[in-house]
Amino acid sequence: MRSLISINDFNKEEMLQVLDLAAEYEANPNRPIFKDKLIALTFFEPSTRTRLSFETAATRLGARFVGFASLSHTSIAKGESLKDTIKMVSNYADMIVIRHHLDGTARYASEIAGCPVINAGDGANQHPTQTLLDMYSIRKTQKTLENLSITIVGDLKYGRTVHSLLQAMSHFNPKFHFVSCPDLEIPQEYKNFLDARNIPYTQHHKLEGQIQDTDILYITRVQQERFQDPMEYERVKNLMRLDASMLTNTRPNLRILHPLPRVNEIAIDVDDRPEAYYFEQAKNGVYTRMGIITYLMNQ
Ligand code: CP
Repeated sequence: MRSLISINDFNKEEMLQVLDLAAEYEANPNRPIFKDKLIALTFFEPSTRTRLSFETAATRLGARFVGFASLSHTSIAKGESLKDTIKMVSNYADMIVIRHHLDGTARYASEIAGCPVINAGDGANQHPTQTLLDMYSIRKTQKTLENLSITIVGDLKYGRTVHSLLQAMSHFNPKFHFVSCPDLEIPQEYKNFLDARNIPYTQHHKLEGQIQDTDILYITRVQQERFQDPMEYERVKNLMRLDASMLTNTRPNLRILHPLPRVNEIAIDVDDRPEAYYFEQAKNGVYTRMGIITYLMNQ
């Protein structure tokens, strides 16, 4: 029985196997191979893409699903513990997908559940299924995962998609450029991770000048829900913003990715540019999550 809690739970070969499965599902999305399976989608924190793409993935694989979309719809609101909740759900389902606002909750759930658990985002920690769909999108647009220049912009402190993406891409000899305001820089533990693997990176506080020499521009939203102080969020929320006028003299293969939701860090005049790939990226989430479900169900 395997779970996917951190992207580091998969080695390079396993990640590539999931991406290959996703490509097969993109070519032929209706494959009802898990008609006897039931997947529980336990979302304690809001989600549009992750929850609906898991529902779509389960449906296309022939599986049924149950679940909830907020903590207020569970008996946790009456005082039940997370431990009891996960034990109950694992009595009902063959697999649990969990999103929670606290770091480490998915790992804790995997230690309690009697079935595989998939982390759909835990606090500011990890979002491994987003990372696999990001990798799928990168491979699809660049025709390779190797030797890419990847510029990551926005909330590098609280952005869980950033943390798992840099760990996953470290298998493919990347060069990273981190762009954020000083208060939202990439945490030291991730710099230590890259240093230990001799992965080069640069750090910048302005987006201007960082767009022309990159293959992937990965933009993220400032994670309002992680801030203790609302005034602090107000101070930093609009400091990084991409608009179409900034997309000059870029590499021909440049693609702009964003895990979404977008707030205002990408102006809508970018949406019609050929470099904009974020809506296709979200669509790739269905195929990738079909691949993840298949890979884990077959362990
Ligand atoms: N990218 C992502 O996790 O989106 P949702 O919060 O809508 O699931």
